[in-house]
Amino acid sequence: MRIYIRKTTKMKLQGSIVTGIITGAVILLSAFGPNQQTWTAPPSADKVTNPVIANEKNIATGKDLFIKTCAICHGKKGKGDGPKSAELDKPVGDFTKENFSKQSDGAIFWKLTEGKKPMPSFKKEMTEEQRWMVIDYIREFGPATKK
Ligand code: HEC
Repeated sequence: MRIYIRKTTKMKLQGSIVTGIITGAVILLSAFGPNQQTWTAPPSADKVTNPVIANEKNIATGKDLFIKTCAICHGKKGKGDGPKSAELDKPVGDFTKENFSKQSDGAIFWKLTEGKKPMPSFKKEMTEEQRWMVIDYIREFGPATKK
């Protein structure tokens, strides 16, 4: 009888470990797996406001940076059709769509800073000011603007 109880407890324990591993794997897959379509910045990113005003000069500098650094994937017009986009395993997104432009500058800044494979992080490659200027330029593509 005792042996029987011990066995059941052990089996239950094994069962819950297996369930735990499966649940963990499912959570990991849904968070980082190939099925994830949207890339969302944390809500705290929305509180960061753009210190670089979108005047002609800053937009022009942002355009230069964009053409040099981003257009290879994102396309000259931000439609996501840059020459390299075809080689990537996921769409790069379309900056002319409302879905994109409804994001705050802070959220876009966060994405540029962090990167997400295959999109590189621009934390080191660009100064904060340059990142904000690129955002000022990207805003020119879309319909609605959220600051
Ligand atoms: C090597 C190709 C590549 C380069 C270079 C690149 N990106 Fe990206 N970018 C991507 C990919 C791929 C995604 C989609 C990532 C995802 O959703 O998982 C993306 C996503 C983004 C997003 C988020 C889009 C959304 O819908 O919210 C922004 C903003 C962005 N890129 C801006 C830039 C800017 C600005 C530059 C230049 C400074 C740049 N990227 C350079 C490939 C690239």
